[in-house]
Amino acid sequence: MELKDILSQFKDDLKKIDSLDALELMRFKYVGKKSLIAEALEEIAKLSIEEKKALGKKINEAKQEIKEKINELQAGLSGAKSESAQDLFYKTLPGKKPAAGHLHIISQAIEEIVDIFKPLGFTRVRHPEIDWEHFAFEALNIPSTHPARDEWETFFIDALPDKKYGRQVITPHTSNGQVHEMLRGQLPIRMLGISRCGRRQEDINHLQTFFQFEGLAVDKGINITHLKGTLDYFAKNFFGPGRETRLRPYDFRFTEPSFEVDINCGLCLGKGCKFCKEGWVELGGAGMVHPNVLRAGKIDPNIYTGFAFGFGVERTYMMKSGTKIDDIRHLLNNDLRFLEQF
Ligand code: PHE
Repeated sequence: MELKDILSQFKDDLKKIDSLDALELMRFKYVGKKSLIAEALEEIAKLSIEEKKALGKKINEAKQEIKEKINELQAGLSGAKSESAQDLFYKTLPGKKPAAGHLHIISQAIEEIVDIFKPLGFTRVRHPEIDWEHFAFEALNIPSTHPARDEWETFFIDALPDKKYGRQVITPHTSNGQVHEMLRGQLPIRMLGISRCGRRQEDINHLQTFFQFEGLAVDKGINITHLKGTLDYFAKNFFGPGRETRLRPYDFRFTEPSFEVDINCGLCLGKGCKFCKEGWVELGGAGMVHPNVLRAGKIDPNIYTGFAFGFGVERTYMMKSGTKIDDIRHLLNNDLRFLEQF
């Protein structure tokens, strides 16, 4: 059989292929030991050396081409068995999409938190992440000699202090934003401040760098029921109806009364596990804004009252049922195998 006939037959045969088995038979027929190509090669033995060379080269090139087409089709058939062989051969299938990434879970959590507070009138604002000690402490009713400062395990910036505002710090909480917001002079206030914070501690429950979200409402007649209602609304929307919060009396210098807000653990749902130990995990602090803080923000505490709360974004996200994150440090390890799950 002449080479051009072999090739045109090959093309016709190829169109009929619809399975890997049929393709294997074609391989035998065209390029195997007793194939049409093998026969064609045998036939040229009778020709002169010159002709043998020329034709032999052509046949071998054709053989190579046939093999390649068969391999190509094989790859297509094993990848997408249901597609027609002809379609794969002529490459009209759309290509594989490149893998697209997604937002980091911390960014996803921030977006979700912002969306939940929006309908209540809380607007996201930003305040300095490197700030004066004054806003992180003094303005919040924590003088420099007060022992409560130790709780904030603060990183100080190695720079000259300001006479009025003291040293510079990596903000150990977002509460520094409270007085900044009040000093803008626009009342009433419904703010949601979300920023990066830093503290000198790291373990299964703490990161040296983390995010907090700070709610602050200041208006005439704000009372504790508004705080409780806002926290319950958030918990219901973020964690789902099966989760409970509890308020524990606490002491913050910048709120009075003050609370720690707990939620039942999302891993064990309150039974107690490696992560939470006794069934409850602390989300953060809350309370009614202390009159001294309102004064520091140039607001008259006899006319206005307010509530505030501050939670860790990462910790809050981990408390969601179903996330099953048992060590907060996973969030910053940037292991794609971990991150791609969310
Ligand atoms: N800033 C406090 C903390 O980081 C939390 C808090 C915010 C408490 C607002 C009361 C009011 O622990």
